[in-house]
Amino acid sequence: MLGGNGFVGRAIVADALAQGAEVTSFSRGQSGSVPAGVTELIGDRSTGDYSALGSGEWDAVVDLSAFRTREVDQAMEVLGDRVGRYVFVSSHAVYERGLPPGTDETAPRREPMRDADELTNDTYGPCKVACEDDVVERYGARATLVRPGKVTGPGDSSGTVLYWIRRGARGGRVALPTKPEQPLQLIDSRDVGRLVMQLIADERDGAFNAVGPESTLAELIEVAAELAGTTVELVPVPADATRFPLVEPETEWNGRRRNPAKARAAGMPVTPLRQTVADILTWDETRGTPALTIGPTAEQENQLLAQR
Ligand SMILES: NC(=O)c1ccc[n+]([C@@H]2O[C@H](COP(=O)([O-])OP(=O)(O)OC[C@H]3O[C@@H](n4cnc5c(N)ncnc54)[C@H](OP(=O)(O)O)[C@@H]3O)[C@@H](O)[C@H]2O)c1
Repeated sequence: MLGGNGFVGRAIVADALAQGAEVTSFSRGQSGSVPAGVTELIGDRSTGDYSALGSGEWDAVVDLSAFRTREVDQAMEVLGDRVGRYVFVSSHAVYERGLPPGTDETAPRREPMRDADELTNDTYGPCKVACEDDVVERYGARATLVRPGKVTGPGDSSGTVLYWIRRGARGGRVALPTKPEQPLQLIDSRDVGRLVMQLIADERDGAFNAVGPESTLAELIEVAAELAGTTVELVPVPADATRFPLVEPETEWNGRRRNPAKARAAGMPVTPLRQTVADILTWDETRGTPALTIGPTAEQENQLLAQR
């Protein structure tokens, strides 16, 4: 696992260990520890330090920490044929914008970009496209591409989804800077973990949309409220995407909806949103609900609500 101690990486590692696999994680060692039994190797992809990967053989590598072609190219050069399968964790951001809803893995991708100074909405997807191409060119039928949508689950400390879950759980009037029906296809990190391990076991090549069940932003908030035993009133406030996480312009809603049929047929489970939210609430409570660095503060939200 290149990035086995990150959020998505930890879920894949957990599934791999449950399957009885021997796991090695390669990272800078900054994003947290790895579970007992996992071999930890330290290196740095930003400086090209892959020396810790200089020896050893693996049935598969899962690459979770590559965003630019030099990163996959250097890893592939070091690992060569000492790995059986190369699973590249890409993103659904590889797809062209403005597609009709529900497109599958054959949908057109954006123009590849081999490098970018900064990863933004305009460069992240195109850079992943170029990485995908390099991995497929090098490994052919031994290459597997996993394209997740927004991933969440216990351990998701990014705050993007957690903001809304906490907000629902707190109850009361909730400021909503978008329509309640804004679609979401959140994928539980444990479902990504299961999919990746099944793809490796079945030696499947090609691309897979790792997206979750269709829901809406309102459903996310209301499910959290229900689980916490509170009630919410969704109050429309002016759109201000810079302050509220997970809010997307309505013009992009359809184009972000993907078809997960191929991944499901390959063994990706569908954890219900309710279960994911319940497990996130439990995890968040266990770690003591630290302050989020994302989303408006209660005071800022109250100011918006006071105007409605
Ligand atoms: N989270 C999502 O919603 C989502 C959606 C679509 C696609 N993805 C893709 O999934 C992958 C993992 O995402 P994530 O959310 O799990 O990210 P994350 O939590 O930030 O994890 C990143 C991992 O990469 C390692 N890493 C970062 N910089 C490194 C470097 N210079 N050298 C070596 N290792 C490095 C980190 O460990 P150290 O910090 O210890 O080095 C960590 O293990 C990414 O490729 C992302 O594009 C994620």
